[in-house]
Amino acid sequence: MEGQKRILCVGLVCLDIISLVDRYPEEDSDSRCLSQRWQRGGNASNTCTVLALLGAPTAFMGALAPGHPASFVRDDFRRYQVDLSLVSSHSTGSLPISVVIANCATGSRTILHASSNLPDVTAADFERVDLSQYKWIHWEGRNASEQVKMLQRVEDYNRNLPPSERVQTSVEVEKPRPELYQLLSHGDVVFISKDVAKDLGFSTAREAVLGLRSRVKEGSTLICAWAEKGADAVGPDGVLVHSDAFPPEKVVDTLGAGDTFNAAVILALSRGKPLGEALTFGCQVAGRKCGLHGYDGIV
Ligand code: FRU
Repeated sequence: MEGQKRILCVGLVCLDIISLVDRYPEEDSDSRCLSQRWQRGGNASNTCTVLALLGAPTAFMGALAPGHPASFVRDDFRRYQVDLSLVSSHSTGSLPISVVIANCATGSRTILHASSNLPDVTAADFERVDLSQYKWIHWEGRNASEQVKMLQRVEDYNRNLPPSERVQTSVEVEKPRPELYQLLSHGDVVFISKDVAKDLGFSTAREAVLGLRSRVKEGSTLICAWAEKGADAVGPDGVLVHSDAFPPEKVVDTLGAGDTFNAAVILALSRGKPLGEALTFGCQVAGRKCGLHGYDGIV
């Protein structure tokens, strides 16, 4: 593992209960699945898993509840050596659970997510983060107005530091919710999803990054991944970069493919790789993930 500084991911952890099928069930039918498993989920949590598998020291910041699902996810975080010292453990409430139908014939994943009664990380919680311990902080866009304050805290912290000591930041805007769009103008790297690009009126990743470039702050990088079409990005120099997708021989499980892409891109950029290389690496690792159930085996 390189250095001591970790990459911190702020956002959701939940339990995914995944039923693997080779045919999507019909409504009001009673059928059997091929297998069923529990898996730790949530975008920030999945991104931690992949970063850890790629060899980065990683930390997670989010909320945990009492109970069996929470013990399961806590143990699983430990299995990947993800640091949990910033996790807030609540004495009441329950961990959010997603029921996922993963269709191995098509690779589709249908998610039914039960939203949580656990609070998101606030700017006040974030005050206790010792920023000198982290080389990169990534936010999964959720409670955007609070997250903007956290990002501003890092911007203030960085202001008088030499580049080598600054904390780099990234944000993911995945859900097409207007409240999240204020995050576009924060962070050194902004990831937007295909759904967000479409919601904002674009029909390709290229159009989206070019069209939204004026909304990100100067010096930032905007990235949009588009499933089997690969990903496009524009960096601080304004140059458009593209990577094709790297589909596996057989797509079996696309759950968390976006979170995997983000992790691989963050890792490459945090190691000083150029944007084009980082984008290609992101598409390669995400492609490998789609050929696997879960994440183990992506390296
Ligand atoms: C995948 C994922 C799942 C989780 C859902 C939450 O990106 O994080 O692990 O169930 O999305 O929206």
